[in-house]
Amino acid sequence: MLPLLPQANDLTTLGADGSACNLFADQEQELRSRRVPLALTLVLVESALQLVPNEILSHPQIKHYAKKRRKAADEILLDRSFHHSAMQRLARMPYPIPADKMGRPDIVHNTLLQVLETPLNWEGLLRVFVHTQDEHVISINPKVRLPKNYIRFIGLIEQLFAKKRVPKEGEPLLRIERMSLQQLATICGPTEVLGFSTQGKPAFIRDVAEFASTLKSPLTLIGGFPRGHFTEKTKQLVKETFSVDKRPLDAWVVAGRFVYDFEWSIGLAKTRLKIQKPM
Ligand SMILES: C[S@@+](CC[C@H](N)C(=O)[O-])C[C@H]1O[C@@H](n2cnc3c(N)ncnc32)[C@H](O)[C@@H]1O
Repeated sequence: MLPLLPQANDLTTLGADGSACNLFADQEQELRSRRVPLALTLVLVESALQLVPNEILSHPQIKHYAKKRRKAADEILLDRSFHHSAMQRLARMPYPIPADKMGRPDIVHNTLLQVLETPLNWEGLLRVFVHTQDEHVISINPKVRLPKNYIRFIGLIEQLFAKKRVPKEGEPLLRIERMSLQQLATICGPTEVLGFSTQGKPAFIRDVAEFASTLKSPLTLIGGFPRGHFTEKTKQLVKETFSVDKRPLDAWVVAGRFVYDFEWSIGLAKTRLKIQKPM
């Protein structure tokens, strides 16, 4: 049995503009009135998605790339595929994030495509947030259709950093604000925070999904970075961490499988296909 929706007062407001946990109040209101459970919150944490840091804005590789894209250097996303030597310089500087954990917007792109184009999301049973290494949180409206093309995705996220919301007018599909993971977790008020990491307790991913489906409001964390582990600050938030293979998998593989197994745990395929008996 899935939990009922949280009551209105469970959804603590935040920020000067008073936006609520999933930041899309209309949709939340509609779901609540249908009494559909808000089932799963997935957060891609410490994601390697940020604008080029000030420290390397004047690096020739960054300047050349920005010029080619006809943008200012401080408006472009850091991307190791294009900025490798600039990032090598960054690695030699005092900078709070290890350079080998940075500059991979493709991880966020692939993971979002995996989880958003799913029956769980179409049924309004998934909330997705992207927390970045430099402490921003992107709220994703479940109705968003992200560009499948990576270059177009990059352009969209750069627009988001510049304007703080996309589109500029009307219902926001993406919103970004400065926020720590701890603040996001407080706002979402989950019953339990689960994490995926190779450092966790070995478990079958379908068992983790089954367990999550029994919780009132599970918050699940997957690392949006290419290597390394959760920071100590992130680890302190997590009640249980699970390792679902003996090798590190790409974040989008873990996210896609988990969403699928969660759908299975709540019987979503059976409901949607109206199948009672197996073939
Ligand atoms: C590319 S991995 C980061 C690599 C990291 N060294 C690790 O082992 O978790 C990105 C994220 O996918 C998830 N992940 C990857 N492999 C996993 C595994 N075998 N078990 C559980 N989670 C995994 C974790 O959330 C991880 O932070």
